[in-house]
This record gives sequence, structure tokens and C-alpha cells, in this order.
Amino acid sequence: MIDPGLTGVGAVVTGAGAGIGRAVAEDLARQGARLLLVARRTGPLEETAERIVAAGGLRPVVLAGDLAEPGAARRIANAARSELGGVGVLVNNAGQADPPGGALDEAGWQRSFELNFHVKRRLAQELRPDLEASRRGRVVNLVGLLEPTVVSAAQAAIAACRLWSKAFSREVAAAGVTVNCVAPGRIDSEQVRRHFPTPDSRARYAAAHVPAGRFGAPAEAAALVTFLCSARAAYLTGQTVAVDGGLQRHA
Ligand SMILES: NC(=O)c1ccc[n+]([C@@H]2O[C@H](COP(=O)([O-])OP(=O)(O)OC[C@H]3O[C@@H](n4cnc5c(N)ncnc54)[C@H](OP(=O)(O)O)[C@@H]3O)[C@@H](O)[C@H]2O)c1
Repeated sequence: MIDPGLTGVGAVVTGAGAGIGRAVAEDLARQGARLLLVARRTGPLEETAERIVAAGGLRPVVLAGDLAEPGAARRIANAARSELGGVGVLVNNAGQADPPGGALDEAGWQRSFELNFHVKRRLAQELRPDLEASRRGRVVNLVGLLEPTVVSAAQAAIAACRLWSKAFSREVAAAGVTVNCVAPGRIDSEQVRRHFPTPDSRARYAAAHVPAGRFGAPAEAAALVTFLCSARAAYLTGQTVAVDGGLQRHA
């Protein structure tokens, strides 16, 4: 069996204060990765760090800030270099669905493309030299399924992210860097609970749409992300992998 090869590897995880990002941070820490965690709110980030330390992991570096602010990608890359020494893993997890029940105005479209596409692209570009230098770089972008039923800024931005990821994966493959996307279906997170606030609303949706009959747990998405970050996935690149209990319909 191939060793996961994550011990001591520097990893940046965005959106690590909640949901899938927190579960990814905890999973990578269990594998011995050294982490830099990013989100806007300090409290939830510190809570993720405390949970990792309580479980016996190395204390992560916490960096609070809005990824969509000008210069954020450069600041994060510089902090990762100085605090972690090198970066072998980037998990571009932070992202946002359209707000429940309303058409977006122009500013909403811009915000969605910023967070769901440009932020991820910029951070990967900033860290590209470090990922290539590691000779085992991993980029995992959290995206979403592409089966639109209504016009959605987030889905359009995710489509852009998936297309760019494919092209980027081809550019960096020779340097041992893989670039993949993970598309969650319905994972029970802070964000999903804004759309499905009660157990009943989640159960009804799952019964109607999810073949597995339930929403997934953040740890179930994190397990896939960690695998893609590991040495075991060295020959897997340019892909989008769904973790969705069978929600996606097309073969
Ligand atoms: N859960 C699902 O079923 C599902 C389905 C499809 C796609 N996804 C995608 O999977 C990823 C994770 O989703 P999730 O459901 O786990 O999300 P979540 O529970 O809402 O957590 C999002 C994380 O991102 C951070 N964040 C949001 N905006 C940010 C910004 N501008 N700058 C820095 N940090 C920011 C949040 O912290 P702060 O608020 O403190 O910044 C939080 O830590 C997202 O990209 C999402 O679009 C999830």
C-alpha cells in the first residue's frame, strides 16, 4: 500500500471554520499535515485549531480575512511560505451558493464569480511555484454539481472553475502537481442549513432527490479531499469527483 505521504506537508485550507473545510483541516491534520487555515471569522477558525490540537495534531496557523479582498491571495501565499516553510497542498474550499430564493443583482453575480472562481484561481497561481517545487503538489477545488434547473451565478462560476481546473492540471502535471475538483451534493454544513433549516426539510429533500436517502456528513466529503491530496492519488488529475449519495443523475 502507498503511504499517504502527508506527514509534515504544508497545506492551505480556505473556509476552514465550518462545514467541509473544517472536516478537511481535521482530516489532513490526522495525516500529519502542517496547516494554514483561512476564513473571515476568527472564532470558528480558532475552534477548528483547538479541535485539531485536542485530537493530538500540530497547532495550525490561523489567518482571518476575506478571500475576496484585493491582495488576499498574495498575503495568504506569503504567510504560508513564512509560517509553513513550503506548501504542497492547497484546498480551495471556501465558496458560496446563491442566497435562498432570490435572483441576484449585478453585484451578486460579481461576488459569486469572485469567491467561486477567481479567488480559487488566484490562490493556485500564487502558490504554483511552491506546489511545483514540492514535486508532489495537490490542488483540490470544492465546486458543485452541474445540473442547473434555474439560472444560478454560483453554478456558472463553478462551471468556470471546473474548466479552468482541467486546463491548469495539464500545465502543471509534469511538475508532479495534480489539480482536481470535488463536487458535493448535499453535505450537512452551515451553508446547507441556511437552505434546509429544519430536520424535516432535509429529510423531505433527501427522500425525494438523494438515492442514499440522507444528506452527507462533512467528514464524508473530507475523506475524498484527503485521498486526492495524498500520494495515493498521484496519477489522478484534471477530474471532478462527486460525493453526493447518488444525487447527480447523468452517467
Ligand atoms: N455543503 C454542500 O452540500 C455543498 C454543495 C455544493 C458545493 N459546496 C461547496 O463546498 C464548499 C464548502 O461548503 P460548506 O457547505 O462546507 O460551506 P460552509 O459551511 O458555508 O462553510 C464555508 C466556509 O468558508 C468561509 N468563507 C465563506 N466566504 C468566505 C470569504 N469571502 N473569505 C474567507 N472565507 C470565507 C466560511 O467562514 P466565514 O464565514 O467565517 O468566512 C466557512 O468557514 C463551498 O465551496 C461550497 O460552495 C458545498
